Amino acid sequence: MAEEQNKLNQPDTTEEPIAVELAKKQREVSISQFFERNRHLLGFDNKRKALMTTIKEAVDNSLDACEEADILPEIYVNVVDMNNDRFNITIEDNGPGIVKKQIPHIFARLLYGSKFFKLSQSRGQQGIGISASVMYAQLTTGKPAKITSKIDKKHPTHYYELHIDTQKNTPEIVREEIVEEWSDKDHGTKIELDLEGSYQKGDQSIDQYLKQTAIANPHITLIYQPPKGEQLIFARATDKMPRRPVEIKPHPYGVELGRLFQMAKLTEAKTLQSFLMKEFSRVGSGTAKQICENAALLPKTKPKTMSREMVESLMKGINETRIISPPTDCISPIGNDLLEKSLRKEINAEFYTAAVRPPSVYRGNPFIVEVACAYGGEQPADQSMKIYRFANRVPLLYQPGGCGITKSVIATNWRSYGLSQSSGALPVGPITLVVHLASVWVPYTSESKEAIAHYPEIIKEIKLAVQECGRKLAMYIRKKRRIQDESKKRDYIQIYIPHIGSALKEIIGLKDSQEERVNKLLKSVLEKKRGELEEIKVDNPEYDAEWAKIGKEKKEREKGKEKKEEKEGKDKSNKGKQEGKEREKKEDKKKK
Ligand SMILES: Nc1ncnc2c1ncn2[C@@H]1O[C@H](COP(=O)(O)OP(=O)(O)OP(=O)(O)O)[C@@H](O)[C@H]1O
Ligand SMILES: [Mg+2]
Repeated sequence: MAEEQNKLNQPDTTEEPIAVELAKKQREVSISQFFERNRHLLGFDNKRKALMTTIKEAVDNSLDACEEADILPEIYVNVVDMNNDRFNITIEDNGPGIVKKQIPHIFARLLYGSKFFKLSQSRGQQGIGISASVMYAQLTTGKPAKITSKIDKKHPTHYYELHIDTQKNTPEIVREEIVEEWSDKDHGTKIELDLEGSYQKGDQSIDQYLKQTAIANPHITLIYQPPKGEQLIFARATDKMPRRPVEIKPHPYGVELGRLFQMAKLTEAKTLQSFLMKEFSRVGSGTAKQICENAALLPKTKPKTMSREMVESLMKGINETRIISPPTDCISPIGNDLLEKSLRKEINAEFYTAAVRPPSVYRGNPFIVEVACAYGGEQPADQSMKIYRFANRVPLLYQPGGCGITKSVIATNWRSYGLSQSSGALPVGPITLVVHLASVWVPYTSESKEAIAHYPEIIKEIKLAVQECGRKLAMYIRKKRRIQDESKKRDYIQIYIPHIGSALKEIIGLKDSQEERVNKLLKSVLEKKRGELEEIKVDNPEYDAEWAKIGKEKKEREKGKEKKEEKEGKDKSNKGKQEGKEREKKEDKKKK
């Protein structure tokens, strides 16, 4: 018995350890498989957003490509409702086109792109946007992406139908041919997708995204056919291309230890001094020597042989050295005038102002913040401030709460500028703010590029720009209050003028005409004494009511009215049908 018990307590050596069993389940996950499961990370978490994100990815790419090739962008966006939550979308550009060999990789392979490795301002940066859209379309409808592209007059137009093999993250060519299309077009790219989606107007709609894109990019022409209603044309406001951002090297400030270590390992420079001069922007021989001195390292040190401790001292040396700010030519801001102009077109306000900050650096990446603000006029006074957020000229429509821009605006003390604000909330008042962050690398909170991460350097710069606008706004609000107070006082005094007139009439027996003269005289004395009162009015000839309506949801009342009209229309036609049937019956009876 005891022997049997002993056996039971002994481990069974014939069975494999559990770790071996578990090891059999370990497998590499392909990037496509990962995002297929986590499509919400890429902005495809619901049908409405998915449709918007897909169009956004394609349009952003078209704009980047046109600007890289110095072509004034002309982009067509066509959205067709195929019913049952299915849409067919087409985005066509007049960009440089894509060479045949790369078409399948660009559209049907995740993490493949030309922008990830360069530090230069562009809308895209990850190499995932368009292939993720293709994957979503494939997942929801099973249909392949249809791509047409041509690179110049002498080359043919290539047409591809593509699927993504998500197991391997590689393109699967369903069809490939040369087509006759575009005999009259020199170059460009077109993508057509069938996908599950939902179309709605409102703040987070395709219409709103395209309108805001046109605002931030006055050099583009967008021709948009929505699923319902007439074609919208956002015509370019200028033929001047924005300044082409120059590609740069990282600025030494804020570069992290790991990155510095890796850069030192990979550099071709033979000495530490030349490494600093070659791999970083704004480091000349004098600055490089100064950094070495502050780091207590010899300028002749071989960067490849540097230990972790040496790299750490190098970082210290960098931080102790005064290095001039990064160059501005790597960033292309929208500009104060244009930002203000776009606000004037959209909002009928009393007061407008804008501010732009000098370039700054986070983690070695230069960036610029610009802000514009519209106050008063037709804006509701009892609602929270409205914020339009932009990053590298792309409107950010989702996740306002998680965005560094909103955080900076909330952290600003708006009460000192004359607005009411509860702690931890946006100010309340008739005010709209536009905030644009332009950088060689925008730190988004996720791959869907919807919100800006909370880097302290970025938050600080946004706050400073917002405060600059706030100070100008406070001056206006104070002036407005003064005028309003004065106007109240005048109204008060004016009430007594007719009483004085009639009292004089009674006491010294004035005639009616004399009483009237006395009243007029008293009024003019009042005006002379207190000076002419400045009028506060909305004077904005640039406001475009039709434009302002684009992308906005209809008010409930309007919707109700429309429904009623629709119903009445139906009732009338039903009544007509009923009457027709009765008439037919009567005629039948007569015949019988
Ligand atoms: N319409 C187009 N014309 C020319 N080149 C394009 C076009 N669309 C995409 N590309 C090229 O394909 C690459 C991949 O595009 P994709 O949208 O997947 O990534 P990205 O734009 O680099 O970064 P992100 O993921 O942030 O959008 C781009 O880097 C660009 O070089
Ligand atoms: Mg892209």
